[in-house]
Amino acid sequence: MEIISKEKLALFGGEPVRSREKKWMTWPIYGEEERRALNEVLESGKWWYGDRVKTFEQEYAAFQDARHCITASSGTTALEVCLQSLGLEPGDEVIVPAYTFIATASAVVRSGGIPVFVDVDETWNIDLKAVEKAMTAKTRAIIPVHFGGRICDMDALRQLASEKGISIIEDACHSWGGKWKGKGTGALGLGGVFSFQMSKNITSGEGGAITTDDDAFAETVRSITNCGRGGDGVWYGHVRVGTNVRMTEFQAAILSAQLTRLEAQTLLRERNGKILDENLSKIEGLTVQPGDPRITRRAYHLYCLRVDADRFGCSRKRLVEAAQAEGLPLSVGYGMPLYKQPAFSQSKNAERYAHCSCPVAEDLCYKSGMWLFHTILLGTEQDMQDIVNVFAKIKENVRELAE
Ligand SMILES: Cc1ncc(COP(=O)(O)O)c(C=O)c1O
Repeated sequence: MEIISKEKLALFGGEPVRSREKKWMTWPIYGEEERRALNEVLESGKWWYGDRVKTFEQEYAAFQDARHCITASSGTTALEVCLQSLGLEPGDEVIVPAYTFIATASAVVRSGGIPVFVDVDETWNIDLKAVEKAMTAKTRAIIPVHFGGRICDMDALRQLASEKGISIIEDACHSWGGKWKGKGTGALGLGGVFSFQMSKNITSGEGGAITTDDDAFAETVRSITNCGRGGDGVWYGHVRVGTNVRMTEFQAAILSAQLTRLEAQTLLRERNGKILDENLSKIEGLTVQPGDPRITRRAYHLYCLRVDADRFGCSRKRLVEAAQAEGLPLSVGYGMPLYKQPAFSQSKNAERYAHCSCPVAEDLCYKSGMWLFHTILLGTEQDMQDIVNVFAKIKENVRELAE
């Protein structure tokens, strides 16, 4: 790839690499399929938990190579249902990464457990050595997050968990279509959770799903999502205390239409992600999120990279300001590790979280982590060239950014 550098940084009045007129791909992507399907549901008079939901569940289970898919109202509620299915007792612990969206951990609290935060490693995923150290007699589950779509080392994690009889619930809310050694994410542990919220790579505005290969787990999950009903179809028969997080026919109709594009979009993001990896990793001071040959298909929800301020020549703050001025919507991501969020640091378990220290997660939050949103990866090769040019131009003029 040819690297074109423009003389003056846009931050100081130079011409930006991307002018305002040159748009990145916008999200969500939809078409006639969604419009037609929505109209059909509208006019059918059956708006709720019917054939469309069943069909989407079958399609999505097949897409993720899982035996079962049970839909839910969001990724958050899907996580809560999975944890409720485990029947956590007071004092039970669930190991979660400190660098993730709050739902990974809040679901644990809402299901009666205690989240135990551990650090991530250079993959941006849960650090397996830290997981091993954090395991106690009270550990009931581990929730790995395939961060940005980069799948965790599921071989090592499964071995670690199975030795101790601990369940793995994958937070696959960034990993639609991801495959580990040819098998889809979401059923690599006991169960996995997906989000279809607006920003996600397949969306119905809000929505979620649980996938699993375990028949008994699937039955419990189904029951909990549907008011604790049993499998006998008795409408006012409730075999356990559940909740209502059912999906509507409108959501399922949109999702089935979205699913027809997901594979091609996943492959395009993967191809563009490789172009960025190859070129950005040549720029001193930038480190891209590393892959793993066992990831046979990588879904990108985020394109993640880190800056080492000393080696790059300026702080992340200045780099991001400069990139945004060049027309690249680069973000710094989470502002703090989860244990610093008041939801935990000012909770009744505050004492526990006051002692948390996850240096890699803190470094990602405060100093080095940067994200590009997945839609950017749906662009052309020229778009990828522009991204590389933005970083190359900033690097070349980095002295101007010194603070
Ligand atoms: C890693 C992760 N887990 C869970 C969720 C929760 O999904 P939802 O927004 O559908 O509740 C999200 C959403 O951003 C997420 O990023």
